[in-house]
Amino acid sequence: METKHWTVSQQSFDTNVMEEAAALLRKGEAVAFPTETVYGLGADATNQQAVRKIFEAKGRPSDNPLIVHVADKEQLKDLVDDVPEVAYKLLEAFSPGPITIILKSKGRVAPNVSAGLDSIGIRIPSHPVGLRLLQEVALPIAAPSANISGRPSPTKAEHVTHDLDGRIAGIMDGGPTGIGLESTVIDCTEAVPVILRPGGVTAEAIQDVIGTVMVDPGLAKGEKEKPKAPGMKYTHYAPEAPLYLVEENMVLHANKLSEAGEKVGIIATEELAQTLQDKHVQVCGSRQDLSTVAEHLYDALRHFKKSDVSVILCESFEKTGVGAAIMNRLEKAATGWI
Ligand code: TXA
Ligand code: MG
Repeated sequence: METKHWTVSQQSFDTNVMEEAAALLRKGEAVAFPTETVYGLGADATNQQAVRKIFEAKGRPSDNPLIVHVADKEQLKDLVDDVPEVAYKLLEAFSPGPITIILKSKGRVAPNVSAGLDSIGIRIPSHPVGLRLLQEVALPIAAPSANISGRPSPTKAEHVTHDLDGRIAGIMDGGPTGIGLESTVIDCTEAVPVILRPGGVTAEAIQDVIGTVMVDPGLAKGEKEKPKAPGMKYTHYAPEAPLYLVEENMVLHANKLSEAGEKVGIIATEELAQTLQDKHVQVCGSRQDLSTVAEHLYDALRHFKKSDVSVILCESFEKTGVGAAIMNRLEKAATGWI
């Protein structure tokens, strides 16, 4: 299939492009668009055939439910049985923005969106281009990250093109996404809300708004209990070469591996990179502000190609604040620790 490519400025979008993309979505096609977290691959959530195209294009397992994107709270209310007080508080504080709220579904979306669950994850993105498209199309849009399943999520349109060109109807380039990691997924169907996936909104910020919040115990590595979000059990974000997380002594580990004949690539913050001058380094943000690491992480994971490196080493971070989401993704992407 021929994929349409549009470039849209965040300041002044081209109305014709918005109309063209919305028309393709209404016709049941899959279109990639920017959100403030990562690029999404959207399709009409009420159209089972359209939703099937998302699963096919990505090679996504059919038991992994999709997040439904809407333009506002009114549209959200149409899709769910009831919006509990706590969900209102979260919406008030963080929406539009990088949070996905799981609620009891009214069954308005196609059955393959929820993969057989009676709940639905809903999000109102804040990216001006993504939000404008949702307003234009005026339909609930199912949208997972716009990557081939298992690969790092796309934070630039060129990542989407690399993975999905020729497999989907269109790609809307709105520039780099900004936050760089996916939304926080929080289950509000229980009395105490549970974070199923750490993300753009930190657990600490959520706690400040609603008091008590749990983190799904199934997320801890080595835990026997399965994660509650079906998608969290899959391998994810895998770079082309095996990735190892490094606790300390990056130089020592890199030297040892090089001496053993490995071609080493290193993902490091600018602070650590200063000590690695003769090495093959991809800089990924600053330790002074971990949101900059989140922003550049997936691009860094995609940077090293099989042809250039045989092993990738990456600096590790404390699991607080946005560090929790960064380490969740890195531990999924990594073969192990050294
Ligand atoms: O930032 C984001 O959330 C991006 C952008 C495009 O909005 N989307 C995204 O979607 O990351 P995806 O499909 O890559 O991840 C959705 C996650 C999966 O882990 C899935 O299992 C979980 O949310 N999920 C979706 N609906 C669920 C439900 N009803 N119950 C439990 N988990 C659910
Ligand atoms: Mg994904």
